Formats: sequence, C-alpha cells, structure tokens
Amino acid sequence: MLSNLRIMIDKINELLKAVENFSPKSLEEVEEFRLKYLSKKGLIPSLFNDFRTLSPDEKKVVGVEINKLKQVATEKVNSLKASLVVNDNSELEIDLSRPGDPLNLGSRHPLSIVRNEIISIFTRLGFIVADGREIEDDDHNFGKLNFPADHPARDMQDTFFISSDMNVLLRTHTSSSQAHEMSEMKPPIRSLSPGRVYRNEAISARAHCLFHQIEGLYVDKNVSFADLKQTLDYFAKEMFGEKTKIRLRPSYFPFTEPSAEMDVSCTLCGGKGCNVCKGTGWLEILGCGMVDPNVFVFAEIDPQVYSGYAFGMGIERITMLKYGIKDLRLFFENDIRFLEQFSSVY
Ligand code: DAH
Repeated sequence: MLSNLRIMIDKINELLKAVENFSPKSLEEVEEFRLKYLSKKGLIPSLFNDFRTLSPDEKKVVGVEINKLKQVATEKVNSLKASLVVNDNSELEIDLSRPGDPLNLGSRHPLSIVRNEIISIFTRLGFIVADGREIEDDDHNFGKLNFPADHPARDMQDTFFISSDMNVLLRTHTSSSQAHEMSEMKPPIRSLSPGRVYRNEAISARAHCLFHQIEGLYVDKNVSFADLKQTLDYFAKEMFGEKTKIRLRPSYFPFTEPSAEMDVSCTLCGGKGCNVCKGTGWLEILGCGMVDPNVFVFAEIDPQVYSGYAFGMGIERITMLKYGIKDLRLFFENDIRFLEQFSSVY
C-alpha cells in the first residue's frame, strides 16, 4: 500500500505539471483556471483536507510542497493575466518603426491644368487675370457688346435667365468680362478672364449646359490685326508645339469687326488629315477679332484714339484636343479613374 505521504506528493506533482502546462488563449480561460485551482474550494486549497491525516514530520514536508505549488499557480495566473491584457490590446500598441500610411496625393482637374497653362502663356506677354462674374445682366452679356435687342445673334446663345424680366442671367460667354474691363479700367488694358459659362443646351458628348471659356482683351493705341495674329500664333505654338500652324477664317461676332475664327493645324495628324480633323487638317479653337468701335463707345473709350483686339476660347475643347478626350461629359463626372490620369506642373 502506498503511504499517504506518497499519495499526496504524487498529487502535488501532478497538479504542478498541470499548472506548468496550462497555456490559455484568453483571459476567460485564466479565470476558469484560477477558480479551479486556487479558489477556496479549488484543487490546491483542498489538498489541506488530506493534510490532516499526515504525521507532524510529513506535514512539514508536504506543507512546504503545497505552498510552493500555490505560489507557482498564483504567479502563473498573474503573469498570464498581464500578458493576455497586453495581447488583447495589441492594436493600441504603437510601433514607432512601422512605416506611415501613404497619403493619396490629389491632382489638378484637367480643365484647371489647361486653364493654368493658357494663363501662363499669356501672362508671359503681359496679360493680367481679371475675373468676371457668372451672374450677369443683359447689358454686360449682350447690350454693351453690341448685340441689339432684336439681333439674331442673341439666338445663338441659349440663355438661362434668372429674373422674369430677362435682365439677370447666367453669362453665356466670358466676353461679358470685356464690357466690365473696358468701363472699369483705363487703357492700356491687357486682360484674361477665365471662368464658367452657361447655355441652355442638351448634354451630349460634344455639348454641355456648363462649360469654361477664357477671354483675352487688349486695348491700346495702334493695336492692329497683325498684333492679334502674332499673339495667337505665339499662343498656338506654345500650347500645341513649335510646328503648329494657324489660320484665320472670316467670321461674325457682334462685338468684333472684323471677326475671325482661328484654326490650328491638327494636333493629331499635323495637317495631313485624320478622323479628329475630319480629313481637313485643321481644328477650330477660338473666335477673335478687332474690338468693334460701338463697344468702345458703350464703354466711353474713344475709338478714334484706341483700338483693340479680343479673343475667346473654350477650355474643354482645347483640353480634349490636347489629351485626346472624346466625351465632354467626362470633365463633370469626377470619376477618379479619369482624373488620376492627369498630372502637370501647371
Ligand atoms: N464669345 C464668343 C463665343 O462664346 C467667342 C469670342 C469670339 C470671343 C470672338 C471673343 C471674340 O473675344 O473676339 O462663342
């Protein structure tokens, strides 16, 4: 028969092994373990029940062993608790050596890139930017630009009116800035006015009710058509490349006389003819002309003393030609897959 002492020592060793091998995954398991082994009625304190049956000498030996076991188990519970608390909050730990999250850099909208590029070309020639207004009155959008009340040219511009008397409207072109500049500044004037314009048109791949133009105006003594042509030739070469040619075709605008439309040699085929230029070798990019004397009179500038030229172009159209974009609607959808293709110094 095994002695009580032997039985108890074996039991203590068994428990010690179990304590040492215990490897929990959660704090709940540790708590279960603590209750099972260390609580008042747990396995370790229960050892003292059998303790009473031992002789005083045996008690000395076993007592030491039970206390050791109790200490090992208590320390194990405490250290497990501490390490599991840390692991549970591992996301809160700060690892200073971890690389930062990359920042998604934005890029400019293609229309802003092209607008800025146009501005930078003309500011090199001494033009300054003078912002106009998107909400205009009839006078600045039409009247002061020599559109008579019943002039058929008004029909060319499908206008969004704001007031019922049709006096306040969303400007249909940036030419309205000319009317402000000529009456608010003194010549010489060399200004550029970029901005939004609005027309009541059905939205399609080639037309939109909102688009962007940039207007140029130069008023001084002895400004000639040759000055206009030279300026636009410089612009076209800077914008589309050294080899670009321009041609001016006679046209009609109420506020310029004579008026012209300017074509550039096709940016894709260089003038040989392709489907972008519809086989002609040329692409129309802007309207221009010499400021009509009537416009000077409306602005109280003496047309006997001053002359001037003006030009206006659509930023969407130039952007489409420059980047080979086929659908105008892409500019307004803000699809990140489209926008992130553009980056520029402008
Ligand atoms: N305002 C005209 C348009 O929207 C463009 C234009 C033509 C502007 C001739 C000008 C100009 O300054 O001289 O179609």
